[in-house]
Amino acid sequence: MTEDNVELEARLQEQEEFEPPESFVEQANVSDPEIYDEFDENWPECWEGAADLLEWYESYDQVLDDSDEPFYKWFTDGKLNASYNCVDRHIDEGRGDETAIEWVGEPTDEDNRTYTYAELQKEVNEFAAALRAQGVGEDDVVTIYMPMIPESPIAMLACARIGAPHSVVFAGFSADALATRMNAADSEYLVTCDGYYRRGDPLDHLDKANQGLSGVDHDTTTVVVERLRDGDGFDHDLDDDQHSYADLVSDHEGEEVEPVQRDAEDMLFLMYTSGTTGQPKGVKHTTGGYLAWAAWTSQAVLDIKPEDTYFCSADIGWITGHSYIVYGPLTLGTTSLMYEGTPDYPDRDRLWEIVEEYECDQLYTAPTAIRAFMKWGSQYPEKHDLSSLRLLGTVGEPINPRAWKWYYKHIGGEECPVVDTWWQTETGGMMVTTLPGVKKMKPGSAGPALPGVDVRIVDAEGEEVDAGNAGYLTVQKPWPGMLRTLYNNDDRFISEYWQAYSDPDSDNWVYFPEDGAKIDEDGYITVLGRVDDVINVSGHRLGTMEIESAIVGVEGVAEAAVVGGSHDVKGEAVYAYVITEDGYEENDELRSRIVEGVEDAIGPIARPEQVVFTPELPKTRSGKIMRRLLENIANGDELGDTSTLRNPEIVGDIEAKVSDD
Ligand code: WT7
Repeated sequence: MTEDNVELEARLQEQEEFEPPESFVEQANVSDPEIYDEFDENWPECWEGAADLLEWYESYDQVLDDSDEPFYKWFTDGKLNASYNCVDRHIDEGRGDETAIEWVGEPTDEDNRTYTYAELQKEVNEFAAALRAQGVGEDDVVTIYMPMIPESPIAMLACARIGAPHSVVFAGFSADALATRMNAADSEYLVTCDGYYRRGDPLDHLDKANQGLSGVDHDTTTVVVERLRDGDGFDHDLDDDQHSYADLVSDHEGEEVEPVQRDAEDMLFLMYTSGTTGQPKGVKHTTGGYLAWAAWTSQAVLDIKPEDTYFCSADIGWITGHSYIVYGPLTLGTTSLMYEGTPDYPDRDRLWEIVEEYECDQLYTAPTAIRAFMKWGSQYPEKHDLSSLRLLGTVGEPINPRAWKWYYKHIGGEECPVVDTWWQTETGGMMVTTLPGVKKMKPGSAGPALPGVDVRIVDAEGEEVDAGNAGYLTVQKPWPGMLRTLYNNDDRFISEYWQAYSDPDSDNWVYFPEDGAKIDEDGYITVLGRVDDVINVSGHRLGTMEIESAIVGVEGVAEAAVVGGSHDVKGEAVYAYVITEDGYEENDELRSRIVEGVEDAIGPIARPEQVVFTPELPKTRSGKIMRRLLENIANGDELGDTSTLRNPEIVGDIEAKVSDD
């Protein structure tokens, strides 16, 4: 580094606030600071503007129906179709030749695939016709178990077209995880693929899907997309109830399917996510409110314009991919870029190569990726011209100021606002973040709540905490993108999200997302992390109970406790403390069976970083495992008071084992 650079770096590290660049503000979709007051004064009608971003067959009667709290309804009696909004409307508006999806496969010697809106319409129609011919009717749940290939959004939109809710299961999840989700949703249809590419090698995905299907407790029909190139395929014979995507689509060549008019409150999709118990939660999102939320936040926060090429590096198997690769960007008629592979294949500059080649305007990624980029070094982005970028975004977990500043400087060239967006699967879209054309940025803090979003940080009694103090994040007014319930489980919906801070007697309903946070004098919120038994590995939510039950299922394991320990790239990593059964040895063979057990039950993403054998777990006198203590051990932190333990002597032993490894 030159002396100038060192000085510059030091200045950047000290700077705590950043104004949005003038050049950005001038062209921003939202630049009027009055928007916050206007939305407050005009709530909930302020959300009409979001609904106006959509095309409706029939307009709604009421913006918000809160007659049955907390089962809120938005845009009641409005009729629309999400596939029409993401595809056909742009053709009707004369933009059929514009690019909808730009797809980059992982192999560098493979041609990219470009779908104009007109081409996307053709493909979505043909697949919708095929699904219907296979018996898929309105409200039948179709499971989509696919990686980052164009057929993923095509399948989602085909489902939306015929009013069949989709349930996308992340392709990295295991066969068991697929079966659990198909059973929970009573889903009789599966769309999957033969395989995909990871770090240059073809991966057999159908084998995993088939294993999953063997655990499904009802009859199913499967469609298999041919992703692998000739010569890379694996040997699989399709069963009678399995069909080739290519065959089906050619059988329905040129067919058109009239989009089904869905009620605003009809389910658009289900998405399973981890919670405190072992059973994943089926988060239900609707057609009107969700789509309006995805579109409005894409416009206001990501500043998406139809002429942009927008790149979100998330996977379609997570909510980020649903809202901010598919539904939001396509509703706005932009070009959404999808990349199949990892950021470090074939080299660590792959994303920067893509940004340069496709002249991307926005990049939306996760802190875990940014920390990896930082570790790899700025020489990788420096090899490329990233000047097309206008805005950067991050989501999934708190971002530390150092990583924020690195992103701002080395990717954004100090000329792009960075939006740190806090939200969840359940919220449907962004909730807390700066409006990039209006608000200054404070690295490490996501920002104020969006206009019209009522976030308050409260103590255990529900009283607002003073600026600077830690408390719990709550949302005190409903919003259009909110989940409507947990699939087939209204009781759990209430107990998970509404019980903690609501006062039903006085009709005061408060949503609790189970995050800790603090707020400063300017109303900027710093999210501190989950307060439930959920850990956040690389921005992905994993329930400790789910992992524990997988470990306890392994032969030779008597008891297990799983906690998150901090990790410099993943954010958090899985630490498993295991008690063996009598007669079993604490050895590497058992250790690898435990790791395998977790991979089989959930997927490689939940793989324990460390498996620590111990004769006992630290327990309170009432028999509760002291997780906090296990977390402190994993992090090498001070242990604090252990006097309430029944077995304080065990703590030192466990600590010694962790630091030995
Ligand atoms: C949990 C939600 C939102 C899509 C991806 C994850 C954490 C998310 C941030 C952020 C701090 C964040 C929270 C939240 N989280 N974004 N910008 N700053 N924490 O969705 O799997 O539903 O996880 O991720 O803990 O509750 P998810």
